[in-house]
Amino acid sequence: MSDSKIYPVKANIAQTTHLDNEQYLAMYQASVSDPETFWAEQGRKFVDWMKPFTKVKNTSFDPGHVSIKWFEDGQLNISANCIDRHLATRGDEVAIIWEGDDPNQDSKLTFKQLHQAVCRFANALKAQGVKKGDVVCLYMPMVPEAAIAMLACTRIGAVHSIVFGGFSPEALAGRIIDSNSQFVITSDEGLRGGRAVPLKANVDEALANPEVDCVKSVIVLKRTGGDIDWVDGRDFWWDELTAVASDDCAPEPMNAEDPLFILYTSGSTGKPKGVLHTTGGYLVYAAMTFKYVFDYQDGDVYWCTADVGWITGHSYLVYGPLANGATTLLFEGVPNYPDASRMSQVCDKHQVSILYTAPTAIRALMAQGDAAVAGTKRTSLRIMGSVGEPINPEAWEWYYRTIGDERCPIVDTWWQTETGGILITPLPGATELKPGSATRPFFGVQPALVDNLGNELEGATSGNLIIRDSWPGQMRSVYGDHERFEQTYFSTFPGVYTTGDGARRDEDGYFWITGRVDDVLNVSGHRMGTAEIESALVAHPKISEAAVVGVPHEIKGQGIYAYVTLNAGEEADAALHKEVKAWVRKEIGPIATPDILHWADALPKTRSGKIMRRILRKIATNETDSLGDTSTLADPSVVDRLIAEKSSLE
Ligand code: PRX
Repeated sequence: MSDSKIYPVKANIAQTTHLDNEQYLAMYQASVSDPETFWAEQGRKFVDWMKPFTKVKNTSFDPGHVSIKWFEDGQLNISANCIDRHLATRGDEVAIIWEGDDPNQDSKLTFKQLHQAVCRFANALKAQGVKKGDVVCLYMPMVPEAAIAMLACTRIGAVHSIVFGGFSPEALAGRIIDSNSQFVITSDEGLRGGRAVPLKANVDEALANPEVDCVKSVIVLKRTGGDIDWVDGRDFWWDELTAVASDDCAPEPMNAEDPLFILYTSGSTGKPKGVLHTTGGYLVYAAMTFKYVFDYQDGDVYWCTADVGWITGHSYLVYGPLANGATTLLFEGVPNYPDASRMSQVCDKHQVSILYTAPTAIRALMAQGDAAVAGTKRTSLRIMGSVGEPINPEAWEWYYRTIGDERCPIVDTWWQTETGGILITPLPGATELKPGSATRPFFGVQPALVDNLGNELEGATSGNLIIRDSWPGQMRSVYGDHERFEQTYFSTFPGVYTTGDGARRDEDGYFWITGRVDDVLNVSGHRMGTAEIESALVAHPKISEAAVVGVPHEIKGQGIYAYVTLNAGEEADAALHKEVKAWVRKEIGPIATPDILHWADALPKTRSGKIMRRILRKIATNETDSLGDTSTLADPSVVDRLIAEKSSLE
């Protein structure tokens, strides 16, 4: 789109930020022409090593031999990098600002206090029998103890697996089983938007599943003081364990390629995959991207609204900021509670200078108009970011004008759980902005577009987004299933990393992410496989078949449209409608609740029995005049029936 609006970098911003455009171009060139030298330098600059690395990059995307290693003979400890090395220079400065769900509750932790809390909890974990390499599952609300628990794991070399607090007991159980976690850390309840979330009760329910037989102990943080059940010998109070733990815990030297964390994410097939990230490359990449993408400078107050349960919460709420010695704000609540101005109020209250949030939050606030900024100034803001899904230009403009008063550059950051850190993004002092474009690659990242056969496309065009070579933050494997890792990311287009996203490149070389090209939905920035929702649906005793597609949704980006076929003799009534929605919430979590349930007599299938989703997508979005060829269907009349049913839904 040559007519898209361009926002040049303002002179005062180019002068006061780390990098201008020429510096970006020179550094980018250096990063791709000689990655070894480039990353060796960055690796030394951003991370303190207990044993320096001598090897930098050892990576292969070759089919059957995919192997990714960075800084492989170096040793380091993440918690020492995030805390200890800042003690001498900024021990009394604030590491974590906590803002409660209730606007009257907040607290601050200095680096010294964080150090003490992490050491104590690390010792408590050791006393519980947690050893280097053990997997610890975290199912936590957004409180400082979530970050403390993560850092304590890294201090002793345990691998954390965080499960978002909005997932159901079933989903939690599946992740505990797959990662074979022996320890679970949770809270009595969480608090979000004035409502209690029964975290401990969910853990109890997950552990009641007879297939979960690996968990030895559950550590419970008291957050609300709400009533909970207790299993003696299995459940332990956080406070009681830390009260008797020492403040002294030496950080464990970890090899650069030792596992750091597992984080489950949805793909187009099967159950969620345990994305495995390792220690050295991940930290170098998270720290470096944090500094340059958000132009972090001493004195900044940085607020990322993501939950620790998602990759953004790992890389840009905890590890990236703390590795840079930044002050990071952790918010328990939601951006529009108690009212639409909460996000802006928090910016003023804590003098936030860098704000990183998601298009879905921006659109929800935009729908409230000026109420989103009522009574606030937001003059502390200087940089704003967006992540998680494509941001529509209208929402971008509103964010720019109304929240940022046309002063603050917006960094629209494209990346994935798998990439560990940001891959395509503007840099505040270097990149001219176009609303809706994630713009250009970060250092060391080589994106390209290919057609469906894998042929590389040149110039201004659209295609499948792939990445040609490895970067340090890349995932290393699917936990326990390296073959699935190769299959998912390296088999469609051999020799390159397949992102699963489609993109357009314009005449300036800017990338515009158009969304997933596979069967993955992005609902309010939450990633979900259609297959996952379908299997939850067909697990219902009255449902024989289901097919899920995404439809455009004004606030959520995408909504969930579920075609459901009932068993013969079942009645499709309002009660069942409610029951099925509640069922999906129970199986996966509230984020997977279908927006639309379409009781379908039958689904369109090929003669070999494959459901034709292309047709279902068109029907769901009322594009029935472009259905394409339906002659290959086993029963083409199904389509007319679906269209008729659809019109009766409206
Ligand atoms: O489709 C892309 C979309 O989110 C997917 C990754 O989701 P997840 O692993 O949950 O990580 C989200 C946070 C990094 C991508 O494949 N996505 C993420 N950021 C953007 C985006 N789409 C467009 N623009 C973005 N800035």
